[in-house]
Formats: sequence, structure tokens, C-alpha cells
Amino acid sequence: MTIHMKDVSKRYTLPKGKELLVLEGIDLEIRHGDFVIILGQSGCGKSTLLNLLAGFQFPSTGNILINNKPICGPDPSIAFLFQRPSLLPWLTVEENVAFGCKIRGDTHKLAYRVTQFIEMVGLSGFEKVHPPKLSVGMAYRVSLARALIGHPQIFLLDEPLVSLDTFMRNRLQEELINIWLSEYFTAIFVTHDIDEAVLLGTKVVVLGGRPSRIRGIFDIQLPYPRKPTDESFFHTRTSLLKELKASFIENHFI
Ligand SMILES: Nc1ncnc2c1ncn2[C@@H]1O[C@H](COP(=O)(O)OP(=O)(O)OP(=O)(O)O)[C@@H](O)[C@H]1O
Ligand SMILES: [Mg+2]
Repeated sequence: MTIHMKDVSKRYTLPKGKELLVLEGIDLEIRHGDFVIILGQSGCGKSTLLNLLAGFQFPSTGNILINNKPICGPDPSIAFLFQRPSLLPWLTVEENVAFGCKIRGDTHKLAYRVTQFIEMVGLSGFEKVHPPKLSVGMAYRVSLARALIGHPQIFLLDEPLVSLDTFMRNRLQEELINIWLSEYFTAIFVTHDIDEAVLLGTKVVVLGGRPSRIRGIFDIQLPYPRKPTDESFFHTRTSLLKELKASFIENHFI
């Protein structure tokens, strides 16, 4: 699935009739199978951009096309992972993973698929457990399984690992890359962490300014798995930082 954002802007209406222009002139083309990182400071409109791609909100001007068709609302081929795991506490792990499929009537071999995806995220043995009895990292993995079981073509992730400790975060980053390499979806991952961007992305899109525009698009051609201790990782990170600085100065942003 290719995604085209053409001159997209997003304006919110605030109380007392005031308006806030958050995004302006966003032109972006994403090819199927890309792992795109959306990088930018807090409040620059990263979640807004993701909500537009998810069909939760609509652009104020411009178009977003998926396979040349405008987005008309949420679609089962697009999955979303929020900043906090949003599980239903009264359902077990396996019921949470199956929940979306049941609602959509996608029940073919569902029990088998649920077992398979629970295994994929390393939670075999926890099928009957309820979310309050899981650690935060485990709850994330349930959310991951629930998002991936429908084999999304596009997977939107809004700072999903931000509240985890370093060990759990590293582990889930690794698992996410392994799943992406085997499932071959397009990932669009929001972060404000440059190391996470270099670890995961094939393409980094930098947002900034008021209203936010795209300040730079950088390709990362390092092979996977990537290791922050590798010399090539260090060089890529350094050159990305240099390019970021240059692009922000060029745009009179700093
Ligand atoms: N529904 C809304 N109505 C009005 N203003 C909104 C709405 N959603 C977001 N905003 C405003 O739009 C701006 C961008 O918000 P957004 O959540 O997209 O930023 P962000 O880059 O995701 O920030 P963070 O990194 O803190 O999550 C902020 O100023 C926010 O207050
Ligand atoms: Mg956000």
C-alpha cells in the first residue's frame, strides 16, 4: 500500500472561536514496506499526523491517498498502537487479542491464530491471564499481538515504548523489527528519540516549526539487526544529527 500526503494541513478550532494551525504543507510519499520514523518535538503535531493517517481525523486542506484512494475513516488494514497499552481489563489475554477480529467477523481459524500471535510476542502460557496481572511490558506485547493479528498493511505506532525501562524497550524494539521483517507491513512510528529512529527506521521524517512542516527526510540504509554499539550505527547517528542541524538552520528554525 502506498501512501501519498499532498499539501496536507490540519487546523483545530479552540474554545472562543480561536484556531490553531498545527500542520501545514505536508507532502509525503511512503512506499509499501517502509519503516518510517516521525521525529519531532513535543506538541509539533506527530500524533495529529498519525490520527490523520488512521482516519480518526481528516485534513483541513489537502489529500491523503492510500493506493490512490482518499481515506474515508478507520480501516481494518490500518492498525494503531497507542502510547499506553489499551487493553480491556475484564477480558483475558487471548480474548483481548481476539477482540478486534470478533468485532469484524474475521473468525476463520481464530483460536489457532490467537495462539500463534500470542506465541509470536512471547506470551505463551499467559492466555488466560487478565491484564491487571500483567507487567507493562507484557501488556504492550498483548497490544502488539492484537494489532498484528489482522495482518495490517499499515501499522501506526504513537511513541509506543516511551514509558518502558531500557531493557524492556530494547527487547520490544528488537521484537518489533523481527515481526516487521517477517510480516512486511508499512510501519509509521512516532518518537522523539534519535537513537530509536536510527535503530528502527528506513526513513526519518522530521517535523518542526509553528505550524509544523517537514524539515527533512533522511534515508537510513543500515542493515538489520542494528546495534547501537556498532561503528556504522554511531556514524549514521552522527550524520543524521548533522543533517538535522543543517536542515533546521536552513529553514531558519533555530
Ligand atoms: N483535538 C484537538 N483539539 C485542539 N487542539 C489539539 C487537538 N489535538 C491536538 N491539539 C493541539 O495540536 C498540537 C499538536 O498536538 P499533537 O498531540 O499532535 O502533538 P505531538 O507532536 O504528538 O506531541 P507529543 O510529543 O507531546 O505527543 C498541540 O498544540 C495540541 O495542543
Ligand atoms: Mg503525541
